[in-house]
Amino acid sequence: MTDTRPVLFFDSGVGGLSVLGPTRALLPHASIVYAADSAGFPYGTRSDADIAARVPALLGRLTERYHPRLIVIACNTASTIALAAVRAALDLPVVGTVPAIKPAAQQSGTRVIGVLGTPATVRQTYVDDLAARFAGDCVVLRHGSAELVKLAEAKLRGEPVEPAAYREALDGLFGQEGGGEIDIVVNACTHFPLIAQELSQAAPHPVRFIDGGPGIARRIAHLTAGQSWPETSPPGKAVFTRLGHAERALEPALSGFGLDTIEAL
Ligand code: DGL
Repeated sequence: MTDTRPVLFFDSGVGGLSVLGPTRALLPHASIVYAADSAGFPYGTRSDADIAARVPALLGRLTERYHPRLIVIACNTASTIALAAVRAALDLPVVGTVPAIKPAAQQSGTRVIGVLGTPATVRQTYVDDLAARFAGDCVVLRHGSAELVKLAEAKLRGEPVEPAAYREALDGLFGQEGGGEIDIVVNACTHFPLIAQELSQAAPHPVRFIDGGPGIARRIAHLTAGQSWPETSPPGKAVFTRLGHAERALEPALSGFGLDTIEAL
């Protein structure tokens, strides 16, 4: 019998689409529910306590409603703060998104790495631990930008964004002492691969940006190996905790990721 249970993606906004994209490429027949906590957006400027309370509760409600086979927390902020609590609360596989510091350290020639995330993510001890474990011989420069998250959302709503806005946001990273030697930047926020081209163009010197999306897609494929999927690619669904004009304006972008229906939680 065909297993119609979806994979549930979760983010504060559209960032998780950068994880959904590579997942769809690997698993084209997967049923998808993409949940965005638009009522709680943005997460990056919230307190840890707020996110720790909000994310497990919401994922509990989403699980009751959509009965997913697997949850993907496609948000670095939520994962670095609440992944363990979500795993403890729910009896199903939960894949998180954490900054790709390990591959960055493996690839850096200059041994100076940038970590670009939200203000909440870059202050986490989770990031200290990743840097100590995997990039002990590197200088790891961090910058938290809430502005870039807003710019990514604006882009997906089809709004024009001035290139200077990206340059200003990146100055907080490259303007740090040693920033001129960064050769790899970890996109430690799922919103940022959605503005990859803009970031590359705005960087003051050529750098490589990396993110965890393709690796997470492979992990999802591994965890669901041997499970059945619908025979044809089913239409995906986007669910918002607040559904207003701003979310409706995302419809064309969502449909580009196969999310053809929108509803409120
Ligand atoms: N996309 C999220 C992340 O990966 C958070 C964006 C936000 O709401 O600040 O961290």
